Amino acid sequence: KADENADGDDLFEQELRKANAEMINENPAKALGAFNKLTHTYAHEPLAHLRRAQALEQLADKQRSNRLLHESIKSYKRYLAFDELIANESEFRAAGERCIEHLRFLGYLQQTVAIHELLIERYPEESVLRNQLSLSYLMANNFVRLQQVAAETLQRWPNDAVAQLHFGLAIKHLSGDYARALPYLAYAINSQEVGTQEAYFYVVLGETLQRLGRHKEALQLHQRGVHKQFFASVYQRSLYNEPGLRAQPFWQPAETGYGQQLEQLQQSWRAIRREALSLLNARGNFQPEAEQLRDTGNWQQFELFAQGRRQHANCQRAPLTCALLDQLPASTGCQRGQVKFSAMQAHTHVWPHCGPTNCRLRAHLTLVAPEPQLTSLRVADQQRTWREGDLFIFDDSFEHEVWHNGTQLRLVLILDLWHPDLSAAQRRSLSPI
Ligand code: LMR
Ligand code: MN
Repeated sequence: KADENADGDDLFEQELRKANAEMINENPAKALGAFNKLTHTYAHEPLAHLRRAQALEQLADKQRSNRLLHESIKSYKRYLAFDELIANESEFRAAGERCIEHLRFLGYLQQTVAIHELLIERYPEESVLRNQLSLSYLMANNFVRLQQVAAETLQRWPNDAVAQLHFGLAIKHLSGDYARALPYLAYAINSQEVGTQEAYFYVVLGETLQRLGRHKEALQLHQRGVHKQFFASVYQRSLYNEPGLRAQPFWQPAETGYGQQLEQLQQSWRAIRREALSLLNARGNFQPEAEQLRDTGNWQQFELFAQGRRQHANCQRAPLTCALLDQLPASTGCQRGQVKFSAMQAHTHVWPHCGPTNCRLRAHLTLVAPEPQLTSLRVADQQRTWREGDLFIFDDSFEHEVWHNGTQLRLVLILDLWHPDLSAAQRRSLSPI
């Protein structure tokens, strides 16, 4: 019996070597065949599954194939399931981490949790592994679990910078309590530790400082962000950027190349206003702004196009405006923007913020304007206000802020437009936002 086993082991080793040799010889199809056979014949051998997983991930990378990556994940999982039988610590841990990486890449964030927990159980002294779990929760926008895990980590490792960061992000998101979130965020980001240096974290800390009125510190942070190449400039802090696009706070319509089309639209501003006002007066059509950008007041919108897609139900209620917009494909087809009516009531302040991308320009066609001296839009260090029938264009990747201290409604048609410097190929292939 013992002999039989030894022979079996020998055979397994031999076939493993053969399969590996096919990989080294860059013979992926053969290698894969060999690994498939191996996991079939030696299903009880953890190493068969691990090596198959590794072969598959290499092939997935080469062929840019998500299907192969999927297969690789499955093999990793089978290997990891042997858990207690595996003695090679570094190999086990690396396999778990790779598997998580691939699951994250494919967007299967739920599935990472079981693997995180497996690793945490096996290496309970490693705070890094707990921070990896909370990071997966952050990526999944699961702020409740993010807060729980980060809080647990902080109980044992109170000075852990990544756990502090995650805790601060959760607090800010769940409670909007910026004062409470600030010390966590600031400590973490100032620590410069691995896992704390991402553009998004700088955005959140900057926003926190600004909302607490700590403008000098916010500026210093943004300067550091520019230095680290997270931001294009202290004012332009969008995160989804294409290189080489002209960037300035305000644009003349003629500079965009869309001047004539915009002028056409502008000529119909009274008809557009009629349509927008009857929608607004009917109530229940406009939705409150949902991004927590509002400090005080009332600010609502009615969306006509989003991510380059017509919002059919809404367009049916605004047929004239949508028909006019059809003459502006750079706007209706802008997959990184929206077209919407934006209604702002008196005594509204919108916090300083940046749009997500430098790939669009934002036009305002003013339909109803309150007292011009009591309202203002600041973009970077320049101010403007609204005048009925007027159309202006700004780049909302630059920091902007709105004050409406007048007494009347402000109503505008907001149109995002593809940045004119983007090629047709870029417009087709950029991921929607
Ligand atoms: C913004 O992008 O924040 C503003 O254009 C919104 C608005 O309605 O003024
Ligand atoms: Mn904005």
